Amino acid sequence: MSSPVTQIKERLSIEEVVSTYIKIERSGVNFKARCPFHNEKTPSFFISPGRSSYYCFGCSASGDIFTFVEEFEGLDFKGALKLLANKAGVVLSDFNPEKESEKEVLYRIMEDTTNFFIGNLSQNTPVINYLKQRGLEDKSIADFRIGFIKNEWRDLYQFLVKKGYKDNEIEKAGLAKKTEKGMYDRFRGRIIFPIADSSGRVIAFSGRIFEDDGKSAKYLNSPETPIFNKSSVLYGLDRAKDSIRKNNFSFLVEGQMDLVLSHQAGFKNTVATSGTALSESVVSKENVVSNLGLLRRLSENIVLAFDADKAGINASERAGKIALSLSMDVKVANIKEGMDPADLISKEGVEAWREAIRGSKHIIEFLLNRIIKKTNNDTRLVGREVKEKLLPFVNFIDSAIEKAHFIKMISDTASIAESALLQDLKKVNEDLKVEKEEIEIAKNVNTKLFRQDYIERKLFGIIFWQQKQSLPIIDTKRILLDLGELLNKTEDEILNKFKDRGEDLIYEAEVFYGGGENLVKDVIELLSNFKEEYLKEQLAKKMMELHLAEKEKDSEKSNKILNECQIISNKIEELKNGRIK
Ligand code: UTP
Ligand code: MN
Repeated sequence: MSSPVTQIKERLSIEEVVSTYIKIERSGVNFKARCPFHNEKTPSFFISPGRSSYYCFGCSASGDIFTFVEEFEGLDFKGALKLLANKAGVVLSDFNPEKESEKEVLYRIMEDTTNFFIGNLSQNTPVINYLKQRGLEDKSIADFRIGFIKNEWRDLYQFLVKKGYKDNEIEKAGLAKKTEKGMYDRFRGRIIFPIADSSGRVIAFSGRIFEDDGKSAKYLNSPETPIFNKSSVLYGLDRAKDSIRKNNFSFLVEGQMDLVLSHQAGFKNTVATSGTALSESVVSKENVVSNLGLLRRLSENIVLAFDADKAGINASERAGKIALSLSMDVKVANIKEGMDPADLISKEGVEAWREAIRGSKHIIEFLLNRIIKKTNNDTRLVGREVKEKLLPFVNFIDSAIEKAHFIKMISDTASIAESALLQDLKKVNEDLKVEKEEIEIAKNVNTKLFRQDYIERKLFGIIFWQQKQSLPIIDTKRILLDLGELLNKTEDEILNKFKDRGEDLIYEAEVFYGGGENLVKDVIELLSNFKEEYLKEQLAKKMMELHLAEKEKDSEKSNKILNECQIISNKIEELKNGRIK
């Protein structure tokens, strides 16, 4: 029987999968779209039904339906496989259940723990009453799988040990800590909100203190673990993503309560930063960019609905600047001072929340109104605040047309001449250079080396997998020798880079090539693609050196480098010719 991957690919076309995520249009035999993996105005993302693959000429993102779903949803291969199998109606049989990977154990432990917390809540009337009094309905509590843990030292730990988990697994999952006196639970006396990845698997918890002792943090989150990366998680995204796509905008709130109540009120396109990302000032720009990037793929329109207090406004400004620089359309909801969405919904009702949303304004207009109110319309003060606090935001807007639009709006509202604003804007631009560069760097960190990564993953997955077979189809020794010659490295040095991903790569290779039908042909293709990518990179480096040597007018050096360039480019040519034969 063909492998599940082949079955899924037979049933789902690349254009069908991609078009459920982004708008695509026909272009000859192919389709094109604006690339979801980098920021662009004109489409350079091509989808080829014939090759069942996509390629972006802007950022080199490339792959098949599996990599697309992985990248778009932020899933690993197994997560994407599960999602696509579901969509295609293909039943996945467990490949080697006795060899569960480390990550799988962690997913299982989180699932068992979630159910334990849910069970605890159902037996604890005071906590249920508290949640009801905060406005949560039974259905929301169940939908979001909210739970509770008593204020004991090792309630959860003991449960997990009974279930057969080992100490190091429990610790790795971030659920208990080891001390001289033994293991103790991380979460104690807290209401628990499970945090899921975008396919709905629980990967972390956020616990709200139940009885405030005056010294513990109000919310406590899981630490980073092999399955929980704070920078690529937004609370509620698994339940919000479809609605964000459908409505073509997202609401971003701060807290878990805000999120659950907003969904309960019918605004299912809401996600929360939940203290894991945007709202903490200590969190790096990289994280903020990556979190907002996650949302931008679903829709470029975002409404910030943070708490109307100092911390919330700071967080809005921070997120707002970065969202603008990612070319997003950023609005801010009109929340009464001192309130947050949860208060508004539970104390004043859904209609008050709707009102706040209806009153959303573009972030520039929102900030401008605040300045005018704050300065009592004192023209000199207004001018200063506009320059210091507002123009930096205008500067982050990419489009010149939009910039002009807002300059005119500020000029009209604050009675400042447009020419003066434009002059100040120039100065602001100078001052912001550093910050802009930082954002640029953070953005670049996020665009991975797609094609190379894809090829490497497949190739080394096959190598690791075949090395473990008693009757391998592929001569891994020879491949490694071949690669060693190219890279000038030993076998161990080559394999080291992938060591900690070994298990996952093996699984992926096994699922992709399990039947072994085309394995030899595929390996030859992968190997020559790998070489080509590597040589191209080398060539690019040499060209750079050549450029410098020519600039220094060092003709001897230039000639030498030119020669080397020629050798590399001959090798690339040879590879290409070899493939045609
Ligand atoms: P808030 O202090 O506004 O809490 O922090 P909240 O959500 O309004 O609290 P309740 O439960 O409704 O009373 C907003 C968010 O910041 C994160 C949490 O995600 C919280 O929901 N936070 C807050 C932390 O991570 N740690 C903290 O100590 C406090
Ligand atoms: Mn709040």
